[in-house]
Amino acid sequence: MSFYQIWIRSFADGNGDGIGDLYGVYDRLDYIKSLGVDAIWFSPVYPSPNADYGYDISDYRNIHPDYGTLDQFRKVLDRAHELGLIVLMDLVINHTSDEHPWFKESCKGKDNPYSDYYIWRDPRFKGEQMLPPNNWYSQFEGLAWEYCETRGQYYLHVFAKKQPDLNMDNPKVREEVKGIMRFWLDMGVDGFREDVITYISKNPALPDGNPLLPMINGLPHYKDGPRLMEYLQEFREVAREYNAIQIGEAPFTPVKTAATYISGPDRVLDMMIQFDHMTADCIMTEYVWHRFMLTKLKKAFTKWQNAMNGRAWNCLYLENHDHPRVISRYGSEKFWRESGTCLAASYIFQQGCPFIYQGQEIGMTNIRLRSIDQYNDVSTINAYHTFRRHRSPESRMRWIHVSSRDSARTPVQWTDGKYAGFSTAKPWFRVNPNYKRINAAAQEKDPDSILNFYRRCLALRKETETLIWGSYKEYYPRSRKHYVYERSYLGDRYLIVCSFAAKETKERLPADWAKAEKDLVIGNYPFSTSDILHPYETRVYHMR
Ligand code: NOJ
Repeated sequence: MSFYQIWIRSFADGNGDGIGDLYGVYDRLDYIKSLGVDAIWFSPVYPSPNADYGYDISDYRNIHPDYGTLDQFRKVLDRAHELGLIVLMDLVINHTSDEHPWFKESCKGKDNPYSDYYIWRDPRFKGEQMLPPNNWYSQFEGLAWEYCETRGQYYLHVFAKKQPDLNMDNPKVREEVKGIMRFWLDMGVDGFREDVITYISKNPALPDGNPLLPMINGLPHYKDGPRLMEYLQEFREVAREYNAIQIGEAPFTPVKTAATYISGPDRVLDMMIQFDHMTADCIMTEYVWHRFMLTKLKKAFTKWQNAMNGRAWNCLYLENHDHPRVISRYGSEKFWRESGTCLAASYIFQQGCPFIYQGQEIGMTNIRLRSIDQYNDVSTINAYHTFRRHRSPESRMRWIHVSSRDSARTPVQWTDGKYAGFSTAKPWFRVNPNYKRINAAAQEKDPDSILNFYRRCLALRKETETLIWGSYKEYYPRSRKHYVYERSYLGDRYLIVCSFAAKETKERLPADWAKAEKDLVIGNYPFSTSDILHPYETRVYHMR
């Protein structure tokens, strides 16, 4: 099974106001189906003040007016189902918006029905000086605590100030979550992608974190917390009633821990979105950038492939709305088509479910805006200011160009026409100026395009048991140029060769593959039997 992710604001505008919406999605469902995927994951489409573009929800049971109505959503859902596509919603329950009615009530005082819905604590005092309850930083904005005058207490926000963390230890909050799940499942939705789900149980003592670490110093006290399993089991029961899929987002979760959530018949989640392979050009987060290292990427791939083999199912992805575009990171804008296709083969044939993020299938690349004021994303702006003491504005802008989440959030480039065919009105965010060259319409016509390569890979994967069920084996893990892996199943074997070199290199094949009769079933250059690989060449061999 494979997924297509929609970040709706930038997907396609159907009503001509410059903002992507459900009308635009409806019109593109056939396109999504034509890719060969089986499912759609919608990043949040709910009402939201957009402090974090939908990940700050102010009403869990409605659609943001910018995107349409519940009726329009039902139409999209029904049509998707007719096309054989299942639909997953984003379940964001670690936090709400501060404009959610629960929070507004909770702020009012300590004795209303919502007063215990969030994580409130009294201030600490150092002499006269009032301090927050602990020293945690928020991942998005300054400290993780904000003072509320009316209540005389601080509330916790692991992300932006406008994203107060829910108190999942309160059984009423968990009942609300189950109610929200039922609301969408009753409508016919097929499951959820669950946002930072491994953060929902905090260490109740809320101890100080390491004062030297920026942004994530509280992490050990709110990730994989003491009651997480218990809560996930509760939510799993609801999902079971509906046979719904649950995919949990789990930043910084090690493989061993991940396996405890996603393996076996009593698993509490079906799959996990892990982050290991997204740090092949950075340290922990894209904002601390270094040169891309293929060996780091391969190590992460292989670690998860081996650990999950026979136990659980991997989420395979290279892009989503939280990461800059992968060609600009792990590939090469110069060898744009070649590296875009090579990257596709590097992950689609691994064991697990491939995810494709809107625009990835046409090889969209990073945008480079001149000044930080032109960026929208709260975490991009925070990173720019966090490093102000260490780096000049120019050098910080260079980092933003390689790291910003906004690069994944520019309007999808459908045509080479005005506003890239995304809208008839001026789009809410800048279109990448390369849309005349990089757009879906041009690639539809070109059999060798990145778009058609994705289609070929997904089709091959779907019809090939070995590429679905087969075991995984990596060759030459120390090579800094090539990524070579094999899938095999009941004697049937495929070898995927990916060159990450920007020049010609000699192909190295395992001895039995070199000798064997084999077919080249997919490649991104004209088929040849030469043992010279072109820049970013990929070849998928099948042993006869
Ligand atoms: C993970 C989401 O993918 C990201 O976009 C969001 O900013 C944070 N969680 C907070 O909800």
